[in-house]
Amino acid sequence: MNIKQIFVNNQTWINEKLKTDKDYFKKLSVGQNPEYLYIGCSDSRVTAEELMGVQPGDVFVHRNIGNMVPNTDLSVMSVINYAVSVLKVKHIIVCGHYYCTGVKAALQPADLGILNPWLRNIRDVYRLHKAELDSINNEEDKYKRLIELNVQEQCVNVLKTSDVQKAYKERQIAVHGWVFDVHTGKLIDLKIDFNKILEGIMEIYRII
Ligand code: CO
Repeated sequence: MNIKQIFVNNQTWINEKLKTDKDYFKKLSVGQNPEYLYIGCSDSRVTAEELMGVQPGDVFVHRNIGNMVPNTDLSVMSVINYAVSVLKVKHIIVCGHYYCTGVKAALQPADLGILNPWLRNIRDVYRLHKAELDSINNEEDKYKRLIELNVQEQCVNVLKTSDVQKAYKERQIAVHGWVFDVHTGKLIDLKIDFNKILEGIMEIYRII
């Protein structure tokens, strides 16, 4: 796409919004009050707002390679802190996607420079679930399962933070693990049983 076209598209979008509500942008400029925090992959095919059918103001979004929540990443930790403590979101979603090249790269023995430490977090997910993953013979199924388990482990990382633990105690904030299937367009709720997963490990991670 021609870069000039983007600005033409922008003006078309403004016109459309103003046609339905002449105060649309005036209202938008007042502030934001999103109920959702979405943590997803930077992959250009996984457009957070479009796949959820939501509008500006509805979702606070953070995207990075592989929808990761590393405990020492200042960027994602700041996003969680602000979304939970200031915006008071009610739901946190970690959304992975099948055919994730970040996850695929983590499965291969290759030196990827600065991506090495980032993708190593995905290798750690593999190590944690090695028995289950090694029992899957079909390569595509194994890769898909790793994507799901990575979402699960990143949700656990979300639950390790003091902000989320506090918000859970005070107002039962909910954490959800989803996967977007690029092949069908379907958004899948992994229906992760956090009570079962956290049983026995929350005594280690509890802060509040
Ligand atoms: Co991806």
